[in-house]
Amino acid sequence: MGKNNAGIKPVNPVRAESDRVIIFDTTLRDGEQSPGASMSLEEKVQVAEILDKMGVDVIEAGFPIASSGDFNAVKQVAKIVKEASVCGLSRASLKDIDRAGEALRDAVNPRIHTFISTSPVHMKYKLQMHPDEVLEAVTASVTHARTYTDNVEWSAEDATRTEHDFLCRCVEAAIKAGAGTINIPDTVGYTVPNEMFALIEMLRERVSGADSIIFSTHCHNDLGMAVANSLAGVNGGARQVECTINGLGERAGNAALEEVVMAINTRNDVLSYWTNVDPTYITRASKLVSAVTAFPVQPNKAIVGKNAFAHESGIHQDGMLKNTQTYEIMTPESIGLKESSLVMGKHSGRHAFKEKLKDLGYRLADDDFQDAFKRFKDLADHKKQIFDEDIEALVDDQVSQGSEHIRVVALTVIAGTGGPQKATITLDVEGQHETREATGEGPVDSIFNAIKEIISHNGRLALFEVSAVTAGTDAQAEVMVRLAQDGHTFTGRSADQDTMVASAKAYVSALSKLQAKLQEAETAHTIRIVE
Ligand code: KIV
Ligand code: ZN
Repeated sequence: MGKNNAGIKPVNPVRAESDRVIIFDTTLRDGEQSPGASMSLEEKVQVAEILDKMGVDVIEAGFPIASSGDFNAVKQVAKIVKEASVCGLSRASLKDIDRAGEALRDAVNPRIHTFISTSPVHMKYKLQMHPDEVLEAVTASVTHARTYTDNVEWSAEDATRTEHDFLCRCVEAAIKAGAGTINIPDTVGYTVPNEMFALIEMLRERVSGADSIIFSTHCHNDLGMAVANSLAGVNGGARQVECTINGLGERAGNAALEEVVMAINTRNDVLSYWTNVDPTYITRASKLVSAVTAFPVQPNKAIVGKNAFAHESGIHQDGMLKNTQTYEIMTPESIGLKESSLVMGKHSGRHAFKEKLKDLGYRLADDDFQDAFKRFKDLADHKKQIFDEDIEALVDDQVSQGSEHIRVVALTVIAGTGGPQKATITLDVEGQHETREATGEGPVDSIFNAIKEIISHNGRLALFEVSAVTAGTDAQAEVMVRLAQDGHTFTGRSADQDTMVASAKAYVSALSKLQAKLQEAETAHTIRIVE
């Protein structure tokens, strides 16, 4: 089957293509742009893999000109994604577009997304360009992007605060130059649903060539209306929604993918559209994005919050027992949330463990599987009941720490009312074992001080968060740490039954990434000096 003008393959022979809403995920680009949410290359690849599996149509993997890290991420994601179109963002400059084209070279279906601001305030103060110059840049950028791919998206940054006549002229120019997708961002989260509906409808009515392209929404959540605005845009005729897992994104975030998809699925009587997303991947994707960014999901967050399916009050529980439909408009299973199921105990064998991993969506290479099995056995020796969440925490921990060059080998902590609290830690730093001891204001401070004795650094602790993976006093503790230095942030996450061990491992994980970044910068500096 061929593609439409937006470069997306038809996938469902039963449902009309005209009712399909293309899901464009920008967790790896706009999501990562939110302060503190940076992800390593390996983490971005992990997220891209799950987005591809869940049926997202377009994965915006980064902004290749922004940094070598972004460039490499787009390049790597382009290589591994099998089904989705992989997209790279670029400003309206030819250099940006060349960089995006280069990063996307290996993609099966590459998309270049080029944008320029069109609102009076952005043109005057940010771009310092005359509207005619902006219009020329629209044509030039889309034309240049088309030399790399047929699949070009153009965005009018700050579209919702743009004068309608000028917006129509820009959109028309972009279509004429060959853009197959026209994105209408609510960059500052300013619009309201009926305005978004009318804006898309107006563009479809007034712009020549509008019926040959796909209109898209890209809504930020500053007034808490990103999802409502996106869906209003769809009602107005948009057929692509740009969104992120957990609503991650600049400031108050972007429209949340899980909310858009589940609103369409749950209220299909009034939102008679469909998407290609398999919602049973939602829970896993949400947990992964939260883990790799160290951005916890608020408990009452729609769809993926811990309490989204919890029924605490007596009246609600009573109703639920009589009929789940009394208080549940969608089932937990529909988003891949399984009842916390009891996993095998310490007598379970390799085969059962492998089946469980498969069930949870993990496919590990043989060595990794052997490691995971050993860690599962160790945990089972100490914890009576092991749940799915324990297995997930254990494997995620292993995956996130697999590529790090610093590891925790041993830790002893003295804590309690007597003081002083003291920690002795042994780290493996690129194969060399080093041990140091330090005191501090409490056990965690002592551990971090001891680590600093081995690896001196200027990273500032921007986040330290502990949560329990399951219920029970023998639960594993999940610790998230964020270190900040020179405008960059580095996150680490770990799970262990011992909260102090998890804290040390999470800190070391973040530090490992910080060190890698410093080394990368040093290498780049050396290369420049040699050049
Ligand atoms: O919010 C915005 O306007 C953007 C564009 C680059 C699409 O993220
Ligand atoms: Zn945005």
